[in-house]
Amino acid sequence: MSVFTKKNKIIITCAKGIPPFLKEEVVSLGLPILSEDMADVETEGKMEDAIKLNLFLRTGQRVLFLLEEFDAKSPDELYNKMSRIKWEDIIPEEGYLCVTSSVETPSIKDSRFANLRCKDAIVDRMNVKFGRRPDSGPNRDKTVIHLYWKEEQCQVYLDTSGEPLSRRGYRRIPLRAPMQETLAAAVILATGWKGNGNFINPMCGSGTLAIEAAMIALNKAPGLLRNNFGFMHLKEFNESSWKALRKKTTAVAKKSLNGRIITTDISQEAIEAAKKNAMTAGVAHLMEFGICDYSETPVPEGGGVVVLNPEYGERLGEIEELKETYEGIGDFFKKRCQGYKGYIFTGNLDLAKKVGLKTKRRMTFFNSNIECRLLEYDLYEGSRERERRG
Ligand SMILES: C[S@@+](CC[C@H](N)C(=O)[O-])C[C@H]1O[C@@H](n2cnc3c(N)ncnc32)[C@H](O)[C@@H]1O
Repeated sequence: MSVFTKKNKIIITCAKGIPPFLKEEVVSLGLPILSEDMADVETEGKMEDAIKLNLFLRTGQRVLFLLEEFDAKSPDELYNKMSRIKWEDIIPEEGYLCVTSSVETPSIKDSRFANLRCKDAIVDRMNVKFGRRPDSGPNRDKTVIHLYWKEEQCQVYLDTSGEPLSRRGYRRIPLRAPMQETLAAAVILATGWKGNGNFINPMCGSGTLAIEAAMIALNKAPGLLRNNFGFMHLKEFNESSWKALRKKTTAVAKKSLNGRIITTDISQEAIEAAKKNAMTAGVAHLMEFGICDYSETPVPEGGGVVVLNPEYGERLGEIEELKETYEGIGDFFKKRCQGYKGYIFTGNLDLAKKVGLKTKRRMTFFNSNIECRLLEYDLYEGSRERERRG
């Protein structure tokens, strides 16, 4: 049966801490949640659903479509069972393929050997059918096959994303310590901001949070920014239906916002990068940029959310200097942001204590492998008065 007509398991991988937000996204696309783990969510559907997931998901990393499941006790058994799959119906004759894997089985010490056996099985079969082997290598910009091999159980997936979905394509200038786009989107979803009220992002760095916020408010699908996905390199990929889906999706995106998006940083270089990145994402015209200390960021009447992602500090000297910054953020929240919901995303909980305000919620995320928190503060109108009175 064609991979485009059969319904199968779909695994969407993500960073730890993200599954609650990813699940909501999957459900809102009309797909069921079959299970969830620390760093993935399982659903089911056809290839057309996998394509939609690639286009619409903001918080997922890779959309893996199950092709086959079998048992294998050794690399040779893996080779034999991989050879039985009709790769000639899946991979274009002139194609290029990349095999990735996650392997935990006694007969393999280095997962690269499993990748090699899989790749050999595929290209040998294609060679018998067509008289030539497709090229293969580490690049994930064409057909990507993913092997999951635990104990004796193998699952073979088509990685329909190819390059991870966090690579939206707009961040040409990442600067120092940028937040991954998928994580930034999860942070915005966690704040609940959907375009009503203002979005204030001091310390914006390369602008990732504000750009993701703008795209969420516009209902602009992140996949519209990319022109390459793994599914496009499957033999039966239908370019005209993909173009029609993109057109329909583009048409439903809003053109303007209700609130203001104010994006500032003390570094001119950061603001230049944020502007360029926002232009590439097609949202720069909806954002206001400023070079200033976070405490000078304009916070208009009307409420909304204020999100800061200060540095966490790696060396002791830096951490000492940052204590003052975190204390200052507490003052900025109290004095300038009444009526807003305030958020700090940080990987340093000791520094976060310096903010000196009571947190309403603390949500755990992981930035690379650093455990981080998104701290929420309710900054009621009048809190400034209460502060003054002590
Ligand atoms: C961790 S980075 C933010 C990264 C950002 N979330 C991104 O995805 O690119 C912290 C930013 O805070 C800025 N910064 C540091 N001290 C500041 C201050 N006192 N006022 C305003 N911005 C400041 C730095 O220039 C840097 O761009």
